[in-house]
Amino acid sequence: MSERSHILIVDDEKNYLLVLQTLLEDAGYTVTAVNDPETALAFLGESEVDVLVTDMKMPKVSGREVLQRVKKSWPHIPVLIMTAFGSIESAVEVMKSGAFDYITKPFSNDELLLSVHNAAELSRAHRQYRLLQEAMEDRYGIHKIIGRSRAVRDVLVMVDRAAPSRSTVLITGESGTGKELVARAIHYTSPRKDKPFISVNCMALNPGVLESELFGHEKGSFTGAVAMRRGRFEQADGGTLFLDELGELTPDLQVKLLRVLQERRFERVGGSEPVEVDIRVVAATNKDLMNLVEKGLFREDLFYRLNVVQIPLPPLRERREDISPLVAHFVEKVLAENNMPQKSFTPEALNYLTGYEWPGNIRQLENVVESCLVLGAGAVIGVDDLPPDIRDEEAQFKSAVDLLPVQLDLADTLEKIEAALIRRALVRAELVQVKTAEYLGISKSLLQYKLKKYGITGH
Ligand SMILES: Nc1ncnc2c1ncn2[C@@H]1O[C@H](COP(=O)(O)OP(=O)(O)OP(=O)(O)O)[C@@H](O)[C@H]1O
Ligand SMILES: [Mg+2]
Repeated sequence: MSERSHILIVDDEKNYLLVLQTLLEDAGYTVTAVNDPETALAFLGESEVDVLVTDMKMPKVSGREVLQRVKKSWPHIPVLIMTAFGSIESAVEVMKSGAFDYITKPFSNDELLLSVHNAAELSRAHRQYRLLQEAMEDRYGIHKIIGRSRAVRDVLVMVDRAAPSRSTVLITGESGTGKELVARAIHYTSPRKDKPFISVNCMALNPGVLESELFGHEKGSFTGAVAMRRGRFEQADGGTLFLDELGELTPDLQVKLLRVLQERRFERVGGSEPVEVDIRVVAATNKDLMNLVEKGLFREDLFYRLNVVQIPLPPLRERREDISPLVAHFVEKVLAENNMPQKSFTPEALNYLTGYEWPGNIRQLENVVESCLVLGAGAVIGVDDLPPDIRDEEAQFKSAVDLLPVQLDLADTLEKIEAALIRRALVRAELVQVKTAEYLGISKSLLQYKLKKYGITGH
């Protein structure tokens, strides 16, 4: 036993109390012994107690009342009741009202020790579960969503408002924009947070397996189904089911999913008994579902079922003001995880990160920050330490040109590009004109002429 369990005993008979205390202390427990129930209840409010052992018959407050009050205020503390021989009936009653165990006096030492041991184990398991739960909340809570853009602030408000209800939430956004992060934040902010968060990636599994993965199967329903298996829907009962990459769902499964969302019940594969579940569905997709609906690839009725609350996550390049706080967040995280000494990006390197297009969004940013920190030799990470594709303006230029349709009006397009580049350079130069001109390789007067021409106001 790494840490001693703390046992609280209440009995109005002082001699008995002393015997019990000695017995339990000898067995390695930390013991607090009191002879008055009110003192015991007050003590529970102040200290961490693992198990309560109480006598049944005491003047003023009975063991049954102690039990009721403990169940109400500290439901996770197992209560062991000691009853006098002959009062079997009340013992049964006491078990019904939630006692962990009861022992009739006089009892053997072994009998008492076994019962206390079992109660202490249960308490320990509870405590570990709660610690794990707190760690999960800490890890996936709403405060893990970083950003100062309007978009992120809107997301935080929506998560907060949607969390308490059971409404289905649809999270949309390109790959790496934080859809799973938001889905977990919803779960861990919701009243369902103590129940499971079950994630299913609709793309990673092949359609045949997906059905039994979602709904489970009965024994013998297909070759290889040697035992009954509960699916993800059942595993998520009371909690949240996260359907990731929803756009990949086959038409057949779309129908089945629609039915579960409508009726909150389904049958296991090969079964005919309906299974009822209480789940909250959060779905995510990087596809434009409306577009899939128009093409007939996604059921319209299912789309509207899912699209009750929609949380759109814009790509990182449309909320560049989040880049700097995200970089700071990832730097701190990577340094802490790897026990590394302080390191930071130079303002110029940060400018490059801010200006980059980030096709892989936040996941890509996270990876770049990590690799720079791990590979960079010094305490400062400069432009030269950045990966070539972020540093390489030529590559950025090519990939941008690749995205343009060929039948554009040349003069008009060039002007648009020029104006866009000037704006970007301005932002990167923090609106300092001399620096902007330097970035663009033009004179300050030419820059000023162009600023006027395109109506760009840089304060
Ligand atoms: N606003 C944010 N603040 C902090 N970290 C974020 C934020 N958004 C995303 N991340 C981090 O970026 C990574 C990618 O996020 P996530 O896996 O949630 O994206 P996704 O949209 O589900 O991507 P995909 O479509 O590829 O599955 C994760 O490590 C996540 O913690
Ligand atoms: Mg994801």
